[in-house]
Amino acid sequence: MKIHGVTELETLKADILISGVDKNSLNSTGRKELDRRFDGRLAGWLGKAIKTEQKELTQLPALSGGIPSVLFIGLGDRADLEEDTLREAFGLAGKKLRKEGAATVAVDIDSFTAAGISAEDAAYLTAEGLVLGSYEYPGMKTDQRESAPFLDELLLFTAEDSEDATAAAEIGRAFGYSVNEARTLVNMPANVLTAVRMAEYAEELAQEYGFETEILGKAQMEELGMGAILAVNQGSSEEPRLIVLKYKATEDFSDPLALVGKGVTFDTGGYSLKPKDGIVGMKGDMGGAAAVLGAMRIIGELRPNKNVMAVIGATDNMVSGNAFKPDDVITSLSGKTIEVLNTDAEGRLVLADAVTYAKRLGATRLIDVATLTGGVIVALGMDKTGVLTNDEEFFETFLNASKESGEFVWRLPLTENDKKRLRKSDVADLNNSPGRDGHMIFGGGFVGEFVGETPWIHLDIAGTSNAPAAYDFGPKGGTGVMVRTLAMLVEQLESK
Ligand code: BES
Ligand code: ZN
Ligand code: ZN
Repeated sequence: MKIHGVTELETLKADILISGVDKNSLNSTGRKELDRRFDGRLAGWLGKAIKTEQKELTQLPALSGGIPSVLFIGLGDRADLEEDTLREAFGLAGKKLRKEGAATVAVDIDSFTAAGISAEDAAYLTAEGLVLGSYEYPGMKTDQRESAPFLDELLLFTAEDSEDATAAAEIGRAFGYSVNEARTLVNMPANVLTAVRMAEYAEELAQEYGFETEILGKAQMEELGMGAILAVNQGSSEEPRLIVLKYKATEDFSDPLALVGKGVTFDTGGYSLKPKDGIVGMKGDMGGAAAVLGAMRIIGELRPNKNVMAVIGATDNMVSGNAFKPDDVITSLSGKTIEVLNTDAEGRLVLADAVTYAKRLGATRLIDVATLTGGVIVALGMDKTGVLTNDEEFFETFLNASKESGEFVWRLPLTENDKKRLRKSDVADLNNSPGRDGHMIFGGGFVGEFVGETPWIHLDIAGTSNAPAAYDFGPKGGTGVMVRTLAMLVEQLESK
């Protein structure tokens, strides 16, 4: 998608123009203002029923000029118009325009500044919302029709040309497309997106954005003693991968933040087998890895002044004569031993070794992202990401980032008593499943046992990684949740 500023109505040519209307846009002063901006060309429309409630869309044919149609976006009462609402409205617009195949989309930036939103914010939210809302997963149907060209060009129509608005739209574009790539990874079936394929994708990203890579295969993992991820992989005929990407803002790679992702490409549960209904959808058990890769793509595009590494543990969790079993005792990369009580609690095992490896690579702050427990869905529903942390200040910065991105997160406690239960085993240092109560806390808390004193945040996205039905930003399926928040966090750490 190309982005340009346009200042002259005469030269504005697009398939559609998007314009914001708040409750006052259609009173007499509002109409005069619209008429002035559009040389009287809107006059004929203004008598029509244009809906002004928040997120209401009204599409009307244009009366003249180089624009065949106008899409009005309702902004409601400007006093309670929030950025998140506007992003959602653009998401809905993107969804609608996708169906119609609008290749060139213009946006009337001044209609949003008139409603109290800065030109930069309006441009950013337009680009991000349209790209998110127009997402489609192509799938593998053989009768695929060529979809109409969509969003090849975004024109920012403003009376005064603003380079800042163009730059802001470019950021929105980077955010939107990176989330969409993460969604596609989540939507891909596990016979296609294997651990090996995921590592190849990471290498493609590295090529494009100049990241350093380190990809470990099974033999190297065995040499290093990554007994936890290897146990999960034991029943599989697919090789595991430990994927490392480094974005080096400085040559010495000092003080790096590590983004650690659960990349379980399919989770059968292993011998603690999932029931037939619970197993469908487990191709999405790599949503954490997708979030990390999506965030790295934004980082590659925007090149912040902050060192960041991605560490992803990728494998499937299968059953076979070789698979690991309940009662097995395994030795993790850290040296800590683990009694396996449940082979379906595999994500925490994968993350244990990934987190240990990130620490060895010098991580001074850690965030792990994982579709870790059904418990987080019971506790918070499908629209809230669960959080654990060991560091108040880091959490506060993270919380601010999540507010910026509009991705809702909620923190749960992790107490000394919880830790005691994780350390309860007659035969090992830890057990991987202390009980079904406080489920999400034990999942994340287990990962915390490998973190030590390093400031750490755990994100359980089991509920939020996959949308059960279509929503404002597109179809059901992968959401790319946390891609934007992680990238925002990097931006906030940059200025620290
Ligand atoms: N991948 C699942 C968690 C999950 C559940 C993700 C639903 C997405 C939707 C995870 O590996 C798992 O199976 N967790 C178990 C843990 C239990 C055995 C301690 C669970 O949540 O039941
Ligand atoms: Zn599992
Ligand atoms: Zn899992």
